[in-house]
Amino acid sequence: MNFKKKDLLGIAELSPKEITAIIDTAFSMKEILERPIKKVPTLTGITIANLFFEPSTRTLNSFQLAERRMSADIVSISSSNSSVLKGETLLDTARNIQAMKVDMVVLRHSMPGASHFLAKKLDASVINAGDGAHEHPTQALLDIMSIKERFNKIDGLNVLIVGDIAHSRVARSLILALKKSKTNVSVCAPPTLLPYKMDGWDINTYYNLDDAIKGQDLIYVLRIQLERQSKGLFPGIREYIKLYGINPERLKMAKKDVVIMHPGPINRGIELSSKVADGHHSIILNQVTNGVAVRMAVLYLLSRKVRKEKV
Ligand code: CP
Repeated sequence: MNFKKKDLLGIAELSPKEITAIIDTAFSMKEILERPIKKVPTLTGITIANLFFEPSTRTLNSFQLAERRMSADIVSISSSNSSVLKGETLLDTARNIQAMKVDMVVLRHSMPGASHFLAKKLDASVINAGDGAHEHPTQALLDIMSIKERFNKIDGLNVLIVGDIAHSRVARSLILALKKSKTNVSVCAPPTLLPYKMDGWDINTYYNLDDAIKGQDLIYVLRIQLERQSKGLFPGIREYIKLYGINPERLKMAKKDVVIMHPGPINRGIELSSKVADGHHSIILNQVTNGVAVRMAVLYLLSRKVRKEKV
C-alpha cells in the first residue's frame, strides 16, 4: 500500500488499511531487530528532531533507537535543555529546528493538538509522540501489533481497559484503533475516571471490576496518574487497589489464558501487582520491543514522502 500521509498525528486520522500497512511494516522491521547487526541504511540522509517537552522513557528511547537503527541523523531536545526555559514558544523552537533543515519532527507535548498545530506550520513531517490527554498513536500501534502477535488476530477479541480512561491518551488512541476492527471493547473505572460523555464510543462500561473481568481475552491496565490524585478523583490509593487493582487473586476470576498489557510506567502494587506484571500472563516487555519496530515502520513510511519531495 502507498502510504501518502505527511504526518502521523493520531489514530483518528488513520484508515484501517493504513493501520494494517504500518503493522505489517513493523513486523518486517522486527526481523531487523533480531539480527546480530541491527542497523540498516534506510534513513541515511534524513535528519530527525525529537522534541520532548514532557518526561518519557519508552517513547523517547524507542524513537531514538529506531532512528539510529535506520541510520538517520538525530537531535533530541527537552524543555530542560532548550530555550523553552527562556520563554521561547513551541512554534519558534520548531521554526528554528526547520531552519536547520530537519526533515522530521517527533513531538511530545502537554498541550492537546500541539502536533496538529506544528504539522500545519512546518514542511517537515510531524509525528505525535503524545499530546496531553488527546492521543498517543505510536503507543496504540505497538499495542495492536502486540495483540496481533499474541492472538494472531484482532477481530472477535474481548478487550477490557481498566483505569483512568478520562485522562489517558493511551486509552483514547487504543479505543480508536480497536474500534476500527471488530473487537468487543469494554472499560472499567470509577465514574470519576471515565469521560463525561461516552456516547458514540460503542463500548461496554463497567464500574465493578469483578463483573468486568469475566470472559475477557485481554486486560489492558492503565497507569493511575498519581499526580492527579490531589484533585480527589477517587477516595484513596488503598481503596483503588482494593476495587480496581489487578492481582493474582483477581485473575482467578478471569479466563485461564487472559493476557495482561500496560503501557508503562507501572505503579507496582497499585494498578498492577508485581506478580502479575512479571508473570506469565504479561506481555508488557513485548510491547516495549514492538515499540521500536513500530516506530521504525512509521519513520520509514513517512520518509518515503520526504524523499519523493526532495528528488
Ligand atoms: N508508554 C509511554 O508513553 O511511556 P513513556 O512516557 O515512558 O514514553
